[in-house]
Parts: sequence; structure tokens; C-alpha cells
Amino acid sequence: MKVKASAPAKVILFGEHAVVYGQPAIAVAIDKRATVTLTSKNNNTEKKEIVLKALDLKLEATINLHSGKNVILANHHDKIVEATAKIIEVMKERHDADWPESMEITIVSQIPRGAGLGSSAAISVASTAALATAAGIQLSKDEISSIAFEAERIHHGTPSGIDNTISTFGGAVYFKRPEVKNFSIPSFSLIIGDTKKERETKKVVLGVKERKERLPHIYNPLLDVFGNLVDEALQVLTTEPLELETLGHLFNVNQGLLNAIGVSSLELEQLIWASRNAGALGAKLTGAGAGGSMIALIETKKEQNVSEAIKNAGGEPLTVSIDTKGVITEEME
Ligand code: PMV
Repeated sequence: MKVKASAPAKVILFGEHAVVYGQPAIAVAIDKRATVTLTSKNNNTEKKEIVLKALDLKLEATINLHSGKNVILANHHDKIVEATAKIIEVMKERHDADWPESMEITIVSQIPRGAGLGSSAAISVASTAALATAAGIQLSKDEISSIAFEAERIHHGTPSGIDNTISTFGGAVYFKRPEVKNFSIPSFSLIIGDTKKERETKKVVLGVKERKERLPHIYNPLLDVFGNLVDEALQVLTTEPLELETLGHLFNVNQGLLNAIGVSSLELEQLIWASRNAGALGAKLTGAGAGGSMIALIETKKEQNVSEAIKNAGGEPLTVSIDTKGVITEEME
């Protein structure tokens, strides 16, 4: 048997961090994917195992399929191995999953890691879909997302769930736990600027938590403003004709709030201001911040200018379009 599953990256347009505290956020899936190929290996069924390979990450590890939890690290420690073991464990618990043979899983991803683009969620969603198909289990998209969420906990500690949701469903999503609303998004142009400074979402989220505990009277009202801003942005995004300038202004206001809670960085600010000065209608960091990526809303005619400005400011520009498919699974043999 050979199964291939892939899932898209995402950008959070509005509301990152506040979404961890129950406020809404809006995210879109983008056309960069993580692909998981699963091949069954006819060997000794007494010792069923998964060999997990992510060659770009120089990762090769073996997971014992009988216990699911028992991870044997054949190369170096990586959260992806732990997250895959978690997916197996949850599928066994919730769906009585069983795999007839040993398997090899290869992960290939177009999504830079630690860049705020949901790389871990895309891998978890694609792995869940591939493993379910290999076990002969039909999972709904809600179930795929929910299992991938358990893997996201391994990566990020207290994830909001927005990353696994958008990567599973694709398109655009308004996410306010437990409400998830897919909506159709008008066409507009976005440029991503990657600072190429990797950071751990878990640490940045923890920093916000600590500051919020120290300064609740400052942070709690700020989080409410994040929520108001996201609701306003939803209004703008679902009203025709699209008011691009207002949307751009809301990007800038959102960046101001993210700055206020201490998650921006010099590298991000440099790319954000370079984009604004080159004619972007608005720019903000996306994802956890403290490095990672920013996004700029642009009119198509400004694409070249903004892209060059990001490059000159030390970042890596990436022009993306919206992915509407979400997770895709193909059984090849
Ligand atoms: O940086 P990313 O892609 O892991 O996004 C994190 C988004 C946060 O809102 C900061 C955390 C979360 O779980 O929603």
C-alpha cells in the first residue's frame, strides 16, 4: 500500500495570541504544502514499526507500532517524532486503529519551520490523514483536525487549535473556540516576508502568559480590543466591494496591538516598515512573532516594489495565493 496526503500552510490575518485566550482570529490557508508519503513494508509482523524520515530535516526515527508511545530515536530528537507517536496513540484510543504491517513515512515540506506559517500543523494534519487511510479508517475533517490538535499540543503546549483547523479545511476561517466558520474570501494580494529568524511558538506564547499574569488590567482590555478588531475585519472581508484600504489599516492596528503585548522584534519591524514605505496598504507580523514572518497587504501593482523592499531589509519575500482544498489524501497503490 502507498498513501500520499498533503496539507497546506497558513497565515493568520488577524488575532494571533488573543485567540489563545478565547478571542476570535482569522486565518487563510496558502499554497505551500507539507506532504507525507506512507508505504507499507511487508516484513516481520511480530515487530511492527514505523520508520519516519524527513530528509530535509535530517531526521530518521523509528516508532514502535505496538505501543505507539514507545519512541526509539534512531537519529536525533525531534518533536515531529513525538507528535507522530501521539497521533498513533490517539487513533488507537478513539478509533481502535490497527495497521497490518510496518510502514515507512516520508515527510517533505515546502513550509519553512519556525516561521509562523503552521509547518508543524500541516505535517500533523497530513500524517493523520495518511495514517487513517493506511488503517482503513474514514475520518471526517473535524476528526482529522481534532487528532492533529493533540499532536499540536506536543509542539506548542497550549495551542488555540487555529493552525490544525485551517490546514485541514483550507480557504479562510473565522475561529473562535468552539466556533469555526469557513467563509469565502475575496481576492487580494499578500506578500509574506520571512525574517529567517526561527523561534519557538511555545516560548513566545508563554512570554505573553507571564506578562498577562503580571499586568492583567493592561492585558485583558487589550485582548478584548483584539477581539473587536477581528470582528471588524470579518465585516470588511465579507462586504462587497472589498475596502482594501480599511483592511490594510486593520493590519496596522493589529500590529500595534501585537507590539503592545511584546511579540514583535526588530527584524519584523524592519520588514514591516520597509513594506509600508514601499507602498503596502498595511503590514503586520503573522503567527507567534519574535522572529518568523510578517505579511503585507498590497495592490498588485506594488508587488515588485514591496518584494524588493523586503529583500533589501534582510527578509525573504514569498508571494502566495490562497489554498481552498485543505487536506488531500490519495491512495496510490
Ligand atoms: O507561529 P505559529 O504558526 O505557530 O502560530 C501561532 C499562533 C498563536 O496564536 C500565537 C498561538 C496559537 O496557538 O494560536
